[in-house]
Amino acid sequence: MRRAVCPGSFDPVTNGHLDIIARASRLYDEVYVAVMINKSKKGLFSIEERIALIEEVTAEYGNVRVESFHGLLVDFCKQRDIPAIVKGLRAVSDFDYELQMAQMNNGLSGVETLFVPTNPTYSFLSSSLVKEVAQWGGDVAHLVPPVVLEALKNKLARQ
Ligand code: PNS
Repeated sequence: MRRAVCPGSFDPVTNGHLDIIARASRLYDEVYVAVMINKSKKGLFSIEERIALIEEVTAEYGNVRVESFHGLLVDFCKQRDIPAIVKGLRAVSDFDYELQMAQMNNGLSGVETLFVPTNPTYSFLSSSLVKEVAQWGGDVAHLVPPVVLEALKNKLARQ
């Protein structure tokens, strides 16, 4: 069984994330999506809401499991016997920090990081920008799955 993990905050999941998860799901037998909990970052969506949205939009792939984790990504991997982390690289500017994390994670536990070049359609896309644009009434329909768009509208309407 070849396993990999796509980690992130996913607040919320975007079409850019989904592109990477879909491609990982074609390369590996089983793909975990790890919603990493960062207590110092207050998110727009709760961890449970993020998981439910990711589960809904990845259900069609058939080999994707979604879990949250509080701790080091290498421990998530160790506990589930996952040898590979799959990350999207949007631009050269992502590379410095991603390289640092990949080297740290490899040094900590031997886990490998595989970088997938982001589809250029989504090279500018981030959850933070989606939230900012949506907050001010901008159109993000082409950047997130329909169920996430609906959830964003509901969440922002209640704020
Ligand atoms: O979507 P994000 O916020 O860019 O994802 C960053 C994330 C969650 C993948 C990264 O911060 C992470 O792996 N956090 C878990 C804690 C950890 O292992 N830190 C050491 C990284 S070398």
